[in-house]
Amino acid sequence: MSKKQPIGTVGLGLMGSSIATCILAAGHPVISLVRTMEHAEAARHRILGYLEELMQEGLLQEDPAMVLKRHVITDDVSLLKGHEVVIESIIENVAEKKAVYAKLESVLSPTAVIGSNTSAIPVSILQDGMQYPERMLGIHWAEPAHITRFMEVICGNRSDLSYAQIILTLAESWGKEPSLLKKDIRGFITNRIMYAMLREAFHLVEKGYATVEDVDRSLRNDLGYWITFAGPFRFMDLTGIPAYLTVMKDLFPDLDNSTAAPALMQRVVGDGALGVSNAKGFYPYTPESAEEWEKSFIEFSYDIRKLALKYSKKI
Ligand SMILES: NC(=O)c1ccc[n+]([C@@H]2O[C@H](COP(=O)([O-])OP(=O)(O)OC[C@H]3O[C@@H](n4cnc5c(N)ncnc54)[C@H](O)[C@@H]3O)[C@@H](O)[C@H]2O)c1
Repeated sequence: MSKKQPIGTVGLGLMGSSIATCILAAGHPVISLVRTMEHAEAARHRILGYLEELMQEGLLQEDPAMVLKRHVITDDVSLLKGHEVVIESIIENVAEKKAVYAKLESVLSPTAVIGSNTSAIPVSILQDGMQYPERMLGIHWAEPAHITRFMEVICGNRSDLSYAQIILTLAESWGKEPSLLKKDIRGFITNRIMYAMLREAFHLVEKGYATVEDVDRSLRNDLGYWITFAGPFRFMDLTGIPAYLTVMKDLFPDLDNSTAAPALMQRVVGDGALGVSNAKGFYPYTPESAEEWEKSFIEFSYDIRKLALKYSKKI
């Protein structure tokens, strides 16, 4: 494998670990900046597990232990000096993220790209106060980041598009099929659309039209059936456009447009439910069944990736 440019990452939580895995597996040396070295060994172990999984799936040809030799975990920001791309994936907190960018700007060259894996903070807000805001981008991954082909590259008000082009090219070499957001908007593409869907899903449940199980079942078997293949605009092309206009005219005024978070959501979170990670969610779990769901999700992620790749090459 030819020598690839070193990439920096910041944060090795859930997403930071799978992002580092993806970039390591693509052949780059990676330096990951962490706040303290306390959890470094656990992160290394997690990343080794992901790399082994990639090898078993035929997506990695190198020995995972050798790949891991290209990975340095450090709490010393000066090791990132000379890096041209650094991707931050720490907790979703503006002040914490900005403190990280100030540290990065103290060692990076003015033309080094800084990307944030923020889920929904507008990139323009993250650019405020930066010395060189034009090199700041959103680089939005989806979990599990070492498997999915998703990435959104987002320009803030002051981002220079040429930096986004650098990341789009790199992302393709990492096995991604990235989308570009030329203008900043809260929630970007998928989160805006997913949250519009979540609002309506809660509305149907809270108003007693359908159960959680029935909402899930319908979406899995309709939208879930075609969306990896087509996306919403292609799907309208495939199924006949005018009928959608008729439905839009009747249905849009009827859709939920409340701005408060749903009461059911507040209750579930208030009860301490984290989801499968603590076996407490919208569905009942035992620790075993929660683990089984997590395992199945990973297996499914590899399967659907294969299916998506098969059909994306066809036409
Ligand atoms: N979880 C997802 O599915 C998902 C999807 C897309 C985007 N994101 C975004 O990715 C980011 C990380 O999310 P996550 O799910 O990995 O969270 P997480 O809580 O698993 O990990 C956050 C990590 O950041 C570390 N951290 C906090 N402050 C730090 C600092 N100053 N320097 C270095 N490390 C620091 C924490 O120790 C922790 O390990 C967030 O911005 C989140 O919104 C998450």
